[in-house]
Amino acid sequence: MNIMIIGSGGREFSIGRVLKQDPEVANLYFAPGNGATTMLGENVAIKDYEKLAQFAVDNAIDLTIVGPEGPLTDGVVDIFKARGLVIFGPSKAAAQLEGSKVYMKNFLAKYNIPTARYIETAHIGDAFKFIESLTAPIVVKADGLCAGKGVIIAQSHDEAKVAVSEMLSGKSFGDAGLRVIIEEFLDGYELSMFALCDGKDFILLPAAQDHKRLLDGDEGPNTGGMGAYAPTPLVDEIIYEKVKERVIRPTLLGMQQEGAPFEGVLFIGIMVVNGEPITLEFNVRFGDPECEILMPLLKTPARELFYKAATKQLDTLNVEFHDKYAVGVVMASKNYPFDNSVPAEIVVDEIHHDEIAQNTHIAYAGVSEEDGKLYANGGRVLVCVGVGESIKEARDRAYMLCGQVHFAGKKLRTDIAYQALR
Ligand code: AMP
Ligand code: GLY
Repeated sequence: MNIMIIGSGGREFSIGRVLKQDPEVANLYFAPGNGATTMLGENVAIKDYEKLAQFAVDNAIDLTIVGPEGPLTDGVVDIFKARGLVIFGPSKAAAQLEGSKVYMKNFLAKYNIPTARYIETAHIGDAFKFIESLTAPIVVKADGLCAGKGVIIAQSHDEAKVAVSEMLSGKSFGDAGLRVIIEEFLDGYELSMFALCDGKDFILLPAAQDHKRLLDGDEGPNTGGMGAYAPTPLVDEIIYEKVKERVIRPTLLGMQQEGAPFEGVLFIGIMVVNGEPITLEFNVRFGDPECEILMPLLKTPARELFYKAATKQLDTLNVEFHDKYAVGVVMASKNYPFDNSVPAEIVVDEIHHDEIAQNTHIAYAGVSEEDGKLYANGGRVLVCVGVGESIKEARDRAYMLCGQVHFAGKKLRTDIAYQALR
């Protein structure tokens, strides 16, 4: 089977990494990929989706997997399907679940899926009135895609009003902020759940926990995610069942009724409040770095899982996971998440310890390659992944690998998985 992965991050690297180990996978392509995906396959520098679909036809690509939300909300899936190509991801219409927070919240309300109490509005007067009715902290969200920066947790009514004014005037997020969601703050613990969906059936993966803040102890600014682990012991069978019954099934049925059946990864951001899972948000793709720690836990070949999901055959698949844990620690560049950083050479020491070598690996993200050397090229650079029989073992291995990886300005959290280990 020939497979193409759209995207350039650690998420796409980690999917490619497991596919590369699969003898059934012949050729692997990344569009556009990064400086390290060339270790796994061929990078394809075609930006135009019509041309990329033509490339898929010309190269007999049997399956395309889409990593990031941008190509999905741009409609890459519709373009590929119009050519009769097999592609895993939601249509442009279904990708609105992530592309518009207003669409998502209204969908949740319409289908009675538990979510934080909210209003959506484009009017400052209505916004201020609702803010006055809440107690701080107050959550303000821009409607459109803002690369993970469009959510403000305001600590006072005044701060919430300033955030809303800046969004509605277009000052903070341009057009993406011209409509806003204002909602009550939910106090609980946060989970990332991923359901692979084929429009009618789904497979729920082990629950993960991300670490969104830059610094240890969940301090500092929000990031795309500084580390993750799975499965988390904070989830029991009861919570899995509640998520299936109250969130995933109604979402699949609801999207059918909306005329936009959901195919692809439904990423459910959940806050568990007093044992009840409340939906914070949907994304329509894998989380990054969550994908990097879920891929090594799959026992069923990823090729089979993605292909069956993309061809509406999930009901014929019995998915198995390794009875293990995985922890991923992100190494980011010096000025992340504020600014670009000067490229810095990455040096990985040779690992002599067999147990570490066999149970760890690096998923490369923001890297470039020159003369056989890898350079940290900005943002989140790579993820050190450790696998083990316990979360502690997986974490210790991940951090041992971190100690072997060097580049100027490297930044990492030292407490990934703390919620599961305290
Ligand atoms: P989102 O992009 O909607 O996931 O929001 C980013 C982050 O803001 C989430 O991962 C949560 O940590 C936090 N957040 C969003 N909505 C709420 C809420 N209603 N209550 C508490 N925290 C929230
Ligand atoms: N790690 C969270 C995200 O990918 O949005």
